[in-house]
Amino acid sequence: MSWNPAEPPIRACVFDAYGTLFDVHSAVDRHRERIGSSAQAMSALWRQKQLEYTWLRSLMGRYVDFDRLTADALAYAMETHAIDDQALTRDLLEAYRELSCYPEVPALLRRLRQAGLPTAILSNGTEATLHHASRSAGLDDGLDRILSVDTLGIYKPDPRVYQLAVDALEVPADQILFHSSNAWDVAGAASFGMRVAWINRSGACAERLPDGPDLELANLEPIADLLRLP
Ligand code: LAC
Repeated sequence: MSWNPAEPPIRACVFDAYGTLFDVHSAVDRHRERIGSSAQAMSALWRQKQLEYTWLRSLMGRYVDFDRLTADALAYAMETHAIDDQALTRDLLEAYRELSCYPEVPALLRRLRQAGLPTAILSNGTEATLHHASRSAGLDDGLDRILSVDTLGIYKPDPRVYQLAVDALEVPADQILFHSSNAWDVAGAASFGMRVAWINRSGACAERLPDGPDLELANLEPIADLLRLP
């Protein structure tokens, strides 16, 4: 891992959404008492299935949007844990539209924008849901762009997804710092040619995939200093 923000200069900061800016487990946390002792395992399975379905549907050429796929993954996770409750399903999906953001996120986005660095989300999520989530977490004034795979009909880590950011921001890949807590997304962006910060919130071990991060951090807090912002 090597890090020099000056060569070539970082000219834009792009963020994965789910797990990086937004806490995907905050939906289940809000309804923990209604779910009971399997809440944590159910939330982990929901996330795992959601990701698997993005990869599988991309390989199968059977894209559906992330809202639909998130509902499918929740149905799988709830059935696995023998939870049959339509009102709870509805409330969990509603909560997923308004996930909590991690505490350091609002200040960092504001600081990046104050320093004149464009900021964007690049996510599997649909544009409408990402706008809704950003507004409800109070992040919308910290973001210049919200970019969704939905315009392509394929999920990360297809290289065309990372190209979306290059095209939208008009910044070459090696001058974009991409941030993700998902190690496979880190590999996808690095393999595409972006500079990448792995926000390893869970203390996971490194993926055995080609191309790793330029930086590994426990959260986003140090980014502004690492970019040597004024
Ligand atoms: C996203 C998923 C990968 O936001 O977390 O794209």
